[in-house]
Amino acid sequence: MVDLRGTGDLVNLAEFEAAAKERLSPLAWDYYSSGAMDEITLHDNREAFERIAIRYHVLAGTAQRDLTTQIMGRQHEWPVLIAPTAFARLAHDDGEIAVARAAAAEGVAQVLSTLSTTSIEDVARAAPGGRRWFQLYVFRDRGLTTELVRRAEAAGYEAIVMTVDAPLLGRRERDARNRFTLPEGLTAANLSGSLAKIGTDGLDSGLFQFFASVLDPGLTWDDVEWLASLTNLPVLVKGVVRGDDAERAVERGVGGVIVSNHGGRQLDTSIASIDALPEVAEAVDGRAAVLLDGGVRRGTDIVKALALGANAVLIGRPVLWGLAVDGEEGVRRMLQILRAELDLAMALCGAASVEELWPDLLV
Ligand code: GLV
Repeated sequence: MVDLRGTGDLVNLAEFEAAAKERLSPLAWDYYSSGAMDEITLHDNREAFERIAIRYHVLAGTAQRDLTTQIMGRQHEWPVLIAPTAFARLAHDDGEIAVARAAAAEGVAQVLSTLSTTSIEDVARAAPGGRRWFQLYVFRDRGLTTELVRRAEAAGYEAIVMTVDAPLLGRRERDARNRFTLPEGLTAANLSGSLAKIGTDGLDSGLFQFFASVLDPGLTWDDVEWLASLTNLPVLVKGVVRGDDAERAVERGVGGVIVSNHGGRQLDTSIASIDALPEVAEAVDGRAAVLLDGGVRRGTDIVKALALGANAVLIGRPVLWGLAVDGEEGVRRMLQILRAELDLAMALCGAASVEELWPDLLV
């Protein structure tokens, strides 16, 4: 049980967001906070959680709560992972290394982005006790893609998360206006040469141009099979919002399906993650892990996601806010708040373990 008293001025994740906004450069704030186009999905990811009410149980004997969860046959201390987010050193010099250390200390696995500003190997070395998965963008150059998978395997990453909702980058208008590019001194550290710079021709977001020129816009379910045949690590597909696609993923032997709309950053007006979850969970029907990201900001959000069939959730932007506020310590504090909120929510809704979270708890 985490004690919420006296450990800082920021008492919830929204306050971390406000504090981070004051510290981040306008370019970094715009990049992290934007959604695609009118940002309808960005906001709906949150509002959809708020529309769900909890029909809690009373007198359920919840003096002790067990927050552990099983994902692909392995136990996780509590049902949260760090979502892949690009370029963490835009938020703090220690970037992904601070996140890795905070994640290890707080018992969560980190999903490292292909577009990290610290390399696969340096992150692994910085937090040897931590658990990590690797998020993969599939490049047109399959040799480079294969090499990234081999590097993740060699560095002890436990799973490969294939992002499938980004054949092209969503249109984030603030990044286009800023002509987003990495500031001097930062690179996409898993890549080399000019690729690593995410440069812009001065007419658009450099990241938009990067996606259009080097990532593969033509991926199909055959590429999921290709990836699964390439590695012995479990493969998860991230960005699924439909039951029929979840079924296709399971047929290809994936270890897990991540319900996600990329934090509202890809197709605007797409369905909120939590609204898509029941259909995906029903289609998967226990044959693979089901995870969710998008809009998780409160312990009650985690309760709702688990009740609707997720094994765990991932959090993205709050990690960057914690990092901007106070590096490793800031990320730890943010995670401690979220864990304490989850524990409290379980006590108050009458669930002593995650197995007791069922859809009938919600309305
Ligand atoms: C990168 O994956 C992004 O969504 O900005």
